[in-house]
Amino acid sequence: LRDRQPIIAIDGPAGAGKSTVARQVAANLGLVYLDTGAMYRAVTWLVLQKGIAIDDECAIAELTNLCKIELTPTQDLQSSVRVWINGTDVTHAIRTIEVTSLVSAIAAQSVVRQALVKQQQSWGKKGGLVAEGRDIGTHVFPDAEVKIFLTASVSERARRRQEDFHKQGQSAINLEQLERDITERDWKDSTRKVSPLQKAADAIEVQTDGLDVSEVTAQIVNYYQQRLSQS
Ligand code: DC
Repeated sequence: LRDRQPIIAIDGPAGAGKSTVARQVAANLGLVYLDTGAMYRAVTWLVLQKGIAIDDECAIAELTNLCKIELTPTQDLQSSVRVWINGTDVTHAIRTIEVTSLVSAIAAQSVVRQALVKQQQSWGKKGGLVAEGRDIGTHVFPDAEVKIFLTASVSERARRRQEDFHKQGQSAINLEQLERDITERDWKDSTRKVSPLQKAADAIEVQTDGLDVSEVTAQIVNYYQQRLSQS
């Protein structure tokens, strides 16, 4: 028997629907949802706010080692957690285009990753969580009971992102531009030297083109229950 509750690791490229699905799975199973991307975003926000150059790895390392990130539950269905860095609520500020376009460069810095992974592992000590990111099954929680690699085609991911923008009242977003942005972010996340985006050898790949959130959620809940009944 393990000395901790089970962990579900969900990895995959940008826009595959990880956050929505991970939130639903966590709510469904009564587990805590851990959005690790929000932590890289929060550090990026702080770097911008302090006016530190994006390639000043020393200053960024120091900042990351000293900062305090908190994720607190909320009833707000859109975000489902509030994100704080050094006492400032950055839940919305970390979703801007500016942060989104710079976060890959910050997430590629090894000292930043070391500090954030350590924090994630300490939060995960007792288990009982659904952690979502790029390196959860390969690096953060390699012994997670269930590992999911969530994917969707570039065109499907661009279409979903366009729909999100529409909902926010921004209708003039070009689909081809979105496809180019997604392809570029995939490339950056999967070719970086430290912990690139990779499917863990023992992860189950779930291709979400044409599936809605509830179908994907049901599949994962099902894998989890099967896995638990085996152990
Ligand atoms: O999932 P997201 O879009 O919020 O992630 C933001 C960025 O952080 C993205 O460029 C990939 C990076 N990231 C990472 O490198 N490792 C993680 N575990 C989570 C996110």
